[in-house]
Amino acid sequence: MFTRIDHVGIACRDLEATIARYTAAFDLTVLGRETNEAQGVHEAMLVVADSATGRSCVQLLQPTRPDTPVGKFLETRGEGLHHVAYGVDDIVGSLSALRESGAELIDETPRHGFGGSAIAFIHPRSAGGVLTELVEAVRRS
Ligand code: CO
Repeated sequence: MFTRIDHVGIACRDLEATIARYTAAFDLTVLGRETNEAQGVHEAMLVVADSATGRSCVQLLQPTRPDTPVGKFLETRGEGLHHVAYGVDDIVGSLSALRESGAELIDETPRHGFGGSAIAFIHPRSAGGVLTELVEAVRRS
């Protein structure tokens, strides 16, 4: 079902400071920055590697307000690993296969993610305690 690890999401309080730390310490390149009002995050994607099946990235997330999922995560857990995202070729098909296998879906249908991708979250209860995301990237010609 999964084609790669698409990205690892990391919650932070100060996006620009964390970008500076990751680019300096790990020599990563910023692919882009976006604000996703629906999810309440300012985010940056940093490229780790490109492969035949697509990019793998680090996604840095700063909440737009305290009363957002990432804002509440920071309040209770502090900065750190927030979710793991796997690449899929067919997000609708993957969601229905997971639903049939008994997985608890947070998103029954895909929503908009970074760079025009389609994303959906799986509940941590169905993934060993880890918030899990599926990503169907925009096709690159
Ligand atoms: Co993500």
